[in-house]
Amino acid sequence: MTDQTLEQIFEQQFGQPSTHRFFAPGRINLIGEHTDYNGGHVFPCALTLGTHAIARKRDDQVFRFYSLNFEADGIIEVSGDDLTHQPVHGWANYAKGMIHVLREAGYQIDEGCDILIKGDIPNGAGLSSSASLELVIGVLLDTLYELQLDRIELVKYGQQVENQYIGVNSGIMDQFAIGMGKAGSGLLLDCETLDYTYAPLDLSGYTIIIMNTNKRRELADSKYNERRSECEEALTYLQQYRPYATLGQWSTVEFEAVPFEDERLQRRARHAISENERTLQALDALTEGRLEAFGQLMNASHRSLQVDYAVTGQELDTLVEAAWSQSGVLGARMTGAGFGGCAIAIVEDETVEAFMTAVGRQYEAAIGYPASFYTATVGDGAREVEQEVI
Ligand code: GLA
Repeated sequence: MTDQTLEQIFEQQFGQPSTHRFFAPGRINLIGEHTDYNGGHVFPCALTLGTHAIARKRDDQVFRFYSLNFEADGIIEVSGDDLTHQPVHGWANYAKGMIHVLREAGYQIDEGCDILIKGDIPNGAGLSSSASLELVIGVLLDTLYELQLDRIELVKYGQQVENQYIGVNSGIMDQFAIGMGKAGSGLLLDCETLDYTYAPLDLSGYTIIIMNTNKRRELADSKYNERRSECEEALTYLQQYRPYATLGQWSTVEFEAVPFEDERLQRRARHAISENERTLQALDALTEGRLEAFGQLMNASHRSLQVDYAVTGQELDTLVEAAWSQSGVLGARMTGAGFGGCAIAIVEDETVEAFMTAVGRQYEAAIGYPASFYTATVGDGAREVEQEVI
């Protein structure tokens, strides 16, 4: 099958040629972790790795989904009048969820369609394969059914799928980065107001390396929702002292003046507040070309996620600490939710090969199985694309 184009596979599976092709990227977050649902800032960028979808509208009410990443599942077929979440539908729930949420919002999706998916982001690696799938389906539906969706609205519907349909209480970062990303730029987003700016990622002489722990995790079974409620609890406590609506409004100085009895809540809040400040400092460092300072902020972010937020774990810590000990590294940290998944490092171009070999060796010796490494290329957000052979 590997020599075939997606169009050929589509026709074989569905019996008719496809009419449209779409792509949505994955994302990495440079800094600003677990700040989005705390009303803080994030600084992600979209990748050139992502999810491809090709499709054709049908003239009945049937939706059919097929993924080259889950070939054993075969074609998953559902009727348009039952789009409820079904565990047995696995990956296709993200696609069903998007159709469901848009319909509930009043968008007319009256006929069905056939959709073929091919993802090149490793699943469960923290590079947002799920938000990428939501958004690729979103742009597909927008085009096929001429919905005229505003892009930021689409981003919010993607988050709604995650929160209400899948059951992960995630913030807006992933869908926003994937819907709004721009090649060569990071995206600084205020998650409270959704104000955003693009910051050119001018890393001349340096490469962003993605390091995958190969420890898979699903957010639905991680401590993600638990961290989120701990932050809500901490905020309620802090509101006795200042009437702020989110942790993102607190400064570290204000926070450090508050006495805490519950040390766990104190640590969770300290991470959310200090990470928000680091994110704004990182934007300044990057725009002023102070790359070393940017790297230091990444390192401090990882420590805070490890010590105060407790979401790193042995695999991520081993990778990041191995990265820190190499020469030619500006900074390294976990990226995404944590609990496994990926870390990133900013590495001098000339030392990339040596870096991957050395870190790979140290990781495997400590953990017992290998890590994977990819070079990150910063690409554009979700879109319709021309037919092409991949
Ligand atoms: C996941 C969530 C995001 C964000 C990150 C942590 O990727 O989907 O909303 O909370 O974790 O920064």
